[in-house]
Amino acid sequence: MRVLVTGGAGYIGRQMVRQLIENKMDVVVVDSLENGHRAAVPANVPLYVGNVGDEKFMDEVFARERVDAVIHFAAYLAVKESMEQPLKYFRNNVENTLRLVSAMLRANVTRFVYSSSAAVYGNPTRVPIPDDHPKQPINPYGESKHLVEKMLQWLSIATPLRAISLRYFNACGASLDGAHGEDHPDEPHIIPLALRAALRGTPFYIFGNDYRTHDGTCIRDYIHIVDLCDAHLRALDALTRGHNTDAYNVGTGHGYSNREIAEAARRITGINFEVRYGPRRPGDPDELVADSSRLQKELGWAPRYSDLDTIIGSAWRWHRAHPNGYADK
Ligand code: UFG
Repeated sequence: MRVLVTGGAGYIGRQMVRQLIENKMDVVVVDSLENGHRAAVPANVPLYVGNVGDEKFMDEVFARERVDAVIHFAAYLAVKESMEQPLKYFRNNVENTLRLVSAMLRANVTRFVYSSSAAVYGNPTRVPIPDDHPKQPINPYGESKHLVEKMLQWLSIATPLRAISLRYFNACGASLDGAHGEDHPDEPHIIPLALRAALRGTPFYIFGNDYRTHDGTCIRDYIHIVDLCDAHLRALDALTRGHNTDAYNVGTGHGYSNREIAEAARRITGINFEVRYGPRRPGDPDELVADSSRLQKELGWAPRYSDLDTIIGSAWRWHRAHPNGYADK
């Protein structure tokens, strides 16, 4: 099996490349390197630098590489930015995915694993959130993910394309040997920011403490990238066995509050960085916790590394060894 990973130089894509190789698959990476890191791609993996929305470029990639399936990570991911620049998100996340799928179909590549998000649900009315919960995104980022999911459903009626969308909850952690970790421009995520506070001796701000939760801070479901990539391997396997187009939540079913995350980061790093409370960050739902029972039952997936000690411990090893990330931007 030869798998094309878009966004394979990025945070989750890079871990996916590693797990595909560990599972004896051949890998090809396409990444624009706008946010990805060249140094994150192993030297023996072919890297095509370009945009998945460039159909001529993608036709060339598919002509040169005999690819059996595509795992599509390449996308913009900043919720706040999507509110300010919705066109940028619809262009990149929707239009460019449509172009990628068009090139796949021209090349007779019909297996597609798609990075969706818990953001498709908006403010949930039921927690833990089941896969069939109504989808009411509250920002263009979530809407872009939802639009692609719907597009994939329609395409699988009219074409041979078969797609599994995985709705990630909060992806986190680093590779278990600490060799690869999170390095986003304008990092928005809680765990790397708490660890940065530990490293730099600066205060860490929790955004809001008046949410409707047990300690007033938001609750999220943290899923280690190794577990997340394992879900992709199972999705790929299911498609190979003839599984139909579908969508699954990927989370642990257990939520931690922002305060609990900050406390765990202090305990695991052994550094008592200062924790302050700031105003709410617009667009944050009170609580997002996954019901992933369908993924567990139907694809045999189970999280193995998503306890806070492994998540924060692996992230800490990465951040401590790479205080400036890949230092290439
Ligand atoms: N937070 C802080 N302080 C910080 C950074 C974050 O308190 O310095 C809080 C946020 O306000 C939020 C929680 O930590 O309450 C988690 O925030 P993240 O930015 O780490 O993650 P999100 O839950 O906002 O975002 C994740 C994914 C998005 C996806 C979203 C679905 O990263 O891609 O879940 O809602 F869209």
